[in-house]
Amino acid sequence: MAVRVAVIGAGVMGTDHARIIAGELPGAQLQVVCDAEEVKARIVADEFGAFGVGSDPIAVISRTDVDAAVIASPDDTHSTLAIAAIEAGKPVLCEKPLAPTAEECLRVIEAEKNCTRPIVQLGFMRRFDPSYSAMKAALDDGSIGSALMMHNFHRNVDSPGTWFTGDMAITNSASHEFDVARFVLGTEYTGISVWQPKRRDERTAPVMMVLETASGQLVNIEVNNNAAYGYDVRGELVGEQGSVFLTAPVHARYNLGLRSAEHYAPDWRPRFAEAYRLQNKAWIHSIETGAPSPIAANAWDGYQAAVVAEAGVQALNEGRRVAIEPREVPAFYRDLREAA
Ligand SMILES: NC(=O)c1ccc[n+]([C@@H]2O[C@H](COP(=O)([O-])OP(=O)(O)OC[C@H]3O[C@@H](n4cnc5c(N)ncnc54)[C@H](O)[C@@H]3O)[C@@H](O)[C@H]2O)c1
Repeated sequence: MAVRVAVIGAGVMGTDHARIIAGELPGAQLQVVCDAEEVKARIVADEFGAFGVGSDPIAVISRTDVDAAVIASPDDTHSTLAIAAIEAGKPVLCEKPLAPTAEECLRVIEAEKNCTRPIVQLGFMRRFDPSYSAMKAALDDGSIGSALMMHNFHRNVDSPGTWFTGDMAITNSASHEFDVARFVLGTEYTGISVWQPKRRDERTAPVMMVLETASGQLVNIEVNNNAAYGYDVRGELVGEQGSVFLTAPVHARYNLGLRSAEHYAPDWRPRFAEAYRLQNKAWIHSIETGAPSPIAANAWDGYQAAVVAEAGVQALNEGRRVAIEPREVPAFYRDLREAA
């Protein structure tokens, strides 16, 4: 029987998750779409053929005709809804970040430890992106030698609003890079330094971070949420014998008016379409088999990203390097990954 999924939050990401679940995953069925504004849930449910709609996410998660939930509502709802899903014994794919603070992430972890296995998968979908996979493979098979540096650029057209501060560029946007660099390099961070260049409107200034890893590598991350020209993610892993660049999927080049050009998308969905699809496929597979994906991020990874983000905000506000203390992975999360 197909896994009956509820999608919580019918905004940009919830709509995309609903589309993937309804149209691209034979093992899944879009059962309910829920949004605090029910009219939005109705629009998405009608477009992708869901059976029901709702406006109360806790009630939707506990429905007997719902087996699993995707949480795609705002950041500050994630931990409460993830814990509700855990208490109902229902697997959850939670959009990043797991929670805005490390303390809230720990609450999810504490709740999840009562389960027989981890049932929260976190939406750090870049782990499934084919270009990051190629980067990781080149490191793991030794072809570029030992890793020295990883450069990361994360640019959005403009920030969602003036409330989206430099702190949020670290806690929300950069969480993707914190996770994927840690995943590719297979190590933990030991320190972070953060700077901002001067921009006329200070609230929209980019953020530049340098992180050190326990294995002696440097990871730099530029987050520029007001880059104006398009959504653009770049990266390069530099090893002792070579390097690997990320390339974005490009399907056409336009030759017009004495110019040759490629187009940038206005947001992240086209760039990471395959990553979202593979991530959701792995999530449904993990529910079918009862074994968490060895690639996907779990609640512990979400906690690690939140710890780094908090250190980054402190580094920005205090204008100094902040050390990141090592934390041992609990056996509950470690054992399954080691067995995979
Ligand atoms: N993985 C990624 O690449 C990626 C990209 C963008 C956003 N995100 C994350 O996805 C989440 C959603 O982002 P978005 O861009 O889709 O936001 P959005 O504002 O477009 O959509 C959020 C929706 O949630 C609804 N909502 C608010 N409170 C709710 C509640 N308590 N219960 C149910 N619905 C509620 C809103 O009405 C809205 O329709 C955020 O946590 C964000 O950080 C992830």
